[in-house]
Amino acid sequence: MEYCIGVDLGTSAVKAILVNRHGGICGEASKPFSIIEPHAGYSEQDPREWAEKTKEAIKELVGGHRGGADEIKGISFSGQMHGLVLLDGKGEVLRNAILWNDTRTTEQCRLINEVIGKARLLELVKNPALEGFTLPKLLWIKEHEQEVFQKAAVFLLPKDYVRYTMTGRIHSEYSDAAGTLLLDVKHKTWSSEMCRRLGIPEAMCPELVESGSFVGCLTSKFAEETGLTPEVKVFAGGADNACGAVGAGILQEGTALCSIGTSGVVLSYEKDPDQQFRGNIHLFNHAAPDAYYSMGVTLSAGRSFSWFKDVFAKDEAFDSLIGEVEESRPGSRGLLFTPYLSGERTPHADAEIRASFIGMDSGHRRADVVRSVIEGITFSLHESIEQFRARGKNISRVISIGGGAKSEEWLQIQADIFNAEIIRLKSEQGPAFGAAMIAAVGCGWFPTLEACAERFVHIKETFQPRPEYSGQYQHIFPVYRDVYRYTKPLNERLAFLRE
Ligand code: XUL
Repeated sequence: MEYCIGVDLGTSAVKAILVNRHGGICGEASKPFSIIEPHAGYSEQDPREWAEKTKEAIKELVGGHRGGADEIKGISFSGQMHGLVLLDGKGEVLRNAILWNDTRTTEQCRLINEVIGKARLLELVKNPALEGFTLPKLLWIKEHEQEVFQKAAVFLLPKDYVRYTMTGRIHSEYSDAAGTLLLDVKHKTWSSEMCRRLGIPEAMCPELVESGSFVGCLTSKFAEETGLTPEVKVFAGGADNACGAVGAGILQEGTALCSIGTSGVVLSYEKDPDQQFRGNIHLFNHAAPDAYYSMGVTLSAGRSFSWFKDVFAKDEAFDSLIGEVEESRPGSRGLLFTPYLSGERTPHADAEIRASFIGMDSGHRRADVVRSVIEGITFSLHESIEQFRARGKNISRVISIGGGAKSEEWLQIQADIFNAEIIRLKSEQGPAFGAAMIAAVGCGWFPTLEACAERFVHIKETFQPRPEYSGQYQHIFPVYRDVYRYTKPLNERLAFLRE
């Protein structure tokens, strides 16, 4: 039997899975890491820790594989998007990576809008200037850490750095490059105009390849350290949301995807790059060739739940805590939560807004609070769904992956709030599965990702919206939406207290 490895470099952990030619999961290893938050709104990680933990996860995976290591033929990657990794001329990391959920760059976004102009920006890179994207981070370094900027020879996205430590070769691929604000999304080249007008040397942009491109084999050192053979073929991989879509078989128009990891996204396949999405629906290159996807993002989705668990229910298991939602009821007995722990992207694009509990009552029990957190995250994702529906998209079926798909209660809440059929998959491995599929196609097991998806991706069960519950949520949702507007000025007045 032959196998491929899919690696997902997430924000809370790196996960590696071993997949056989039938799409069966034959091994899994995961290593957690934490976020460094030196100030409010800052979010960093050490790229060397990513590389080390990825190596450990792969070593564990190979060690647990009963067959020979030479059966493992290919590897590819999915990764948290937008993070800025800077390397010097010798390929050494210059500072911690600044992550997608870091919001220190409001000034730099203002600068980009001023220099380029909002309309031209959308023409060139298809997306507005948002704090999470890579270019504002580069400009922040240029302004605040000039020495680091001077020494920087190249910037990389997170998984591209990890792949570089395994192959010694530097590349970026379109699906992740699209999240930098420096890629001409339609023409698939770095935008010389963006670089020139914002003072970013084009030489800092890495060579671009397709997600499915073969970029080399493992270094003998990495092979030796993990037990893999140096002949393992390495394929570029994709942004985590693109890989989540590939792993769920979202390779043509139709079904939407809801992926809840640290962040939460709702995305939809797009064939046409010329659509104009005003507002905060992003348009990025897919990991499938010549395809795109549009996407709304909740910055703190799974993160809101893990924050709640860490602070108030540390010793509780994820499953039993989430199971408590059943002891409450829709609307959490009048308690509403907005998940703006580190600002928001869709639909508000607001780095300053912070989360709220509204309507707390002395009769509330923990189950109500747990339910309100789950409902608040899901309402936020529903705001993205509403953006799509407002543009005429029919969102009646949604494949759910990630943390939100691990709990039946949460899947049912998604069906009720989205008022859509929710699909749970058999091999629900999130973006790592899409990465493994990219490797499987790269190794020649299938001619296309579509053919691979036909073999690998299967529905396990579906959750239908319950009219009575959906009806109640339709009444609660406008109240949820209003919380943003009413708490915005209050949060602005509280901002000076943040550290
Ligand atoms: C997407 C985004 C997040 C990260 C999380 O634009 O910022 O979904 O990709 O890994």
